[in-house]
Amino acid sequence: MHNLGVLISGRGSNMMAVHDHIQSGALGAEISVVISNKPQAQGLTFAVENGISTAVFEPKDYASNNAYEQDIVTCLKSFKVDLVVLAGYMKLVGDPMLQAYEGRMVNIHPSLLPSFKGLNAQKQALDYGVKVAGCTAHYVIRDVDAGPIILQAAVPVLDDDTEASLSARILEKEHEIFSMAIQEALDQLN
Ligand code: GAR
Repeated sequence: MHNLGVLISGRGSNMMAVHDHIQSGALGAEISVVISNKPQAQGLTFAVENGISTAVFEPKDYASNNAYEQDIVTCLKSFKVDLVVLAGYMKLVGDPMLQAYEGRMVNIHPSLLPSFKGLNAQKQALDYGVKVAGCTAHYVIRDVDAGPIILQAAVPVLDDDTEASLSARILEKEHEIFSMAIQEALDQLN
C-alpha cells in the first residue's frame, strides 16, 4: 500500500475527496499525514476527526523558505510518504521539496493548463471570457503549474456564471479526477 502525504492550506475538500475514494476502494493508497502551512486550515479538523496524522509548519517560524521546506521533507520522510499530494496548497514549492520529491509530487489546479496559471484561475477564466473551463492534475516541477499533465476535465462556462458558481462546477471535477490522477501516478511508481 502506498503512502500519501497531503499538503493543504485551507478548506481541504480535495483532500476529503481523496479520503472518500480511498474509503470506497476506488483509490489504493493511504493518507499517512496531512500537512498544512496554516494552523487554521479547515481541512485539518476533518483529518483529525478521521484519525489521520496532521502537522502544521508555518513559514513565519523559519528564517528561510529552505528551512521551512526542509522540516516538511523530514516530516514526509518520517511518514514514509511515496507520493506528495498538493491539494489546495497555496504556496510555491522550492528546492528542498523538489529535490526530495520531484516526479513523486502532484497538484490539482482549477484551470485547463496551460491557460490561467497561478492564483484565482477561475476568475481569470471568467475575465478572459472562455466558454470552456476545467481543471488539471499534473506533476509538480519548478515552474509554477507547468509540470507534465496527468488528467484534465472540462466544464462549460455559462453566461450567468459568477466566480463562485464556476468554481463550484470545476471543483466537482477536481474531486473526480484528482484521485484518478493520484492512482495513475502511484501506478508509475511500481
Ligand atoms: C481548489 O480549487 C484547488 O484546485 C485550488 O484551490 C482550491 C482548494 O480547495 N488550488 C489552486 O488554485 C492551486 N494553484 P480545497 O482546499 O477545498 O481542496
